[in-house]
Amino acid sequence: DVYGEGRKNSAGLDLSTRADRFRLSAAVTVLDAAPLQSGPLVGGKMEAGGPPLPVVSPVDAGRVVGAVSEAQLPQIDKAFKLARAAQPAWDQAGGPARAKVLRAMGDALEANIERLIAILSREAGKTLSDGIAEVREAVDFCRYYAVLAEKQFGEPEVLKGPVGETNTLGLAGRGVFVCISPWNFPLAIFTGQIAAALAAGNAVVAKPAEQTPIIAYEAVKLYHAAGLDPRLLALLPGRGETVGAALTAHEDLDGVAFTGGTDTAWRINQTLARRQGPIVPFIAETGGLNGMFVDTTAQREQVIDDVIVSAFGSAGQRCSALRLLFLPTDTADHIIEGLKGAMDALVVADPADASTDVGPVIDADAKDALEKHLARLKHEAKVLHALETPAGGTFFGPVLAEIPAADFLEREVFGPILHVVRYKPEDLEQVAGALAARRYGLTLGVHSRIQAFADEVVRLVPAGNAYINRTMIGAVVGVQPFGGEGLSGTGPKAGGPHALLRFAVERALSVNI
Ligand code: SER
Repeated sequence: DVYGEGRKNSAGLDLSTRADRFRLSAAVTVLDAAPLQSGPLVGGKMEAGGPPLPVVSPVDAGRVVGAVSEAQLPQIDKAFKLARAAQPAWDQAGGPARAKVLRAMGDALEANIERLIAILSREAGKTLSDGIAEVREAVDFCRYYAVLAEKQFGEPEVLKGPVGETNTLGLAGRGVFVCISPWNFPLAIFTGQIAAALAAGNAVVAKPAEQTPIIAYEAVKLYHAAGLDPRLLALLPGRGETVGAALTAHEDLDGVAFTGGTDTAWRINQTLARRQGPIVPFIAETGGLNGMFVDTTAQREQVIDDVIVSAFGSAGQRCSALRLLFLPTDTADHIIEGLKGAMDALVVADPADASTDVGPVIDADAKDALEKHLARLKHEAKVLHALETPAGGTFFGPVLAEIPAADFLEREVFGPILHVVRYKPEDLEQVAGALAARRYGLTLGVHSRIQAFADEVVRLVPAGNAYINRTMIGAVVGVQPFGGEGLSGTGPKAGGPHALLRFAVERALSVNI
């Protein structure tokens, strides 16, 4: 039982109760009154980095969430040095001892849930329900990897061999892992990557996304408070071009775990390929060009609900989000009409308000890119429906557009824009084949009452996570191990039973005594 006896996914908070809504709005008020800070945290101490820069909320350009100072080279070197010194003892302590610290971290996250959600809402523009889901996911990663650490990093496995000889195979940490995480899950992915690396017996040097250094600082403080030797986890905030580049080029790393854009993954891969010295693993989770295929037997109301959540939930800023909706020509108009109506019911507003469905996009660059894409859609395709964009922060009203084929999209469009492609059922193989030929492979959706149709789509479009007759976002730790293939990723799945393996080395021991 890899899920662990008695392990339950975190319960989070319940927005339908007035008490929990009150706790959250009180936490947002406290945060608004007292801006936070972030900076290089090395050996448990905040070091003086670059000049402090304001962290501005995407919700409102006038709202400063706190200040961050960028890590500099001396702090980077010091972080590696401390990590290297502390790692062997952590590795030798064994899986069960590490599991204790990870469980304490899970408990610490739960104990601070309101404050963490308030930060997620202000710094990353998360709705309260997304904030709840995110804290729960972070907790689940800690507890799930604790179970794996106990089961896989306890006693070595005894193998068959000649009489008189004892053969075993054990797992051990690789050394110092660099973990680089994205702004769209600035707590769950940040905490999860670190939890996986630590569970496997590594020390970690972590760089959060440039846009979300504050929630990362809070998470690292909680890890240390949970009993982790602070030398085993350093926080080095800053830009990818500076801090990210220095970390991935560092001579003393033993592996890199990265979640973010495909372009950055290519750059890191090239940096690692040029290394002289130990050959290290690269675990990458990147983007997707995620499609959903609907056939004429699909239940219309369910399609509409699931499409709205999959495409516009989290303002479309999930790597798993639906980008391309393939509708059969016979029922396309009927479904499109329903989608327009459902879009009109979406509330695009301050994410700290419990009734908001769609918060802002992360920053002005993200908004600019979406606006450019929308201009192209108006020009070269057909915009079917577009919601108004509220003023203030970097909001972007959800858009439904029709394009002639998947090829129209040159790359992943990261935000609340959904593209419809009409197809004739007899062309399914060709249409699905064209999507698969793009070589992304993250999520896939199917809506149909016919098993053979679902099976065929799943066969035609390889994807790490396929979802039939439901939403295609929100993978749950231990239930839908998450991660893609091809241009979408390299690694074993986050929240799955094999997650720790690439963070580890395998050692065989043959004893004749
Ligand atoms: N794990 C997230 C999801 O499944 C990734 O974006 O939606």
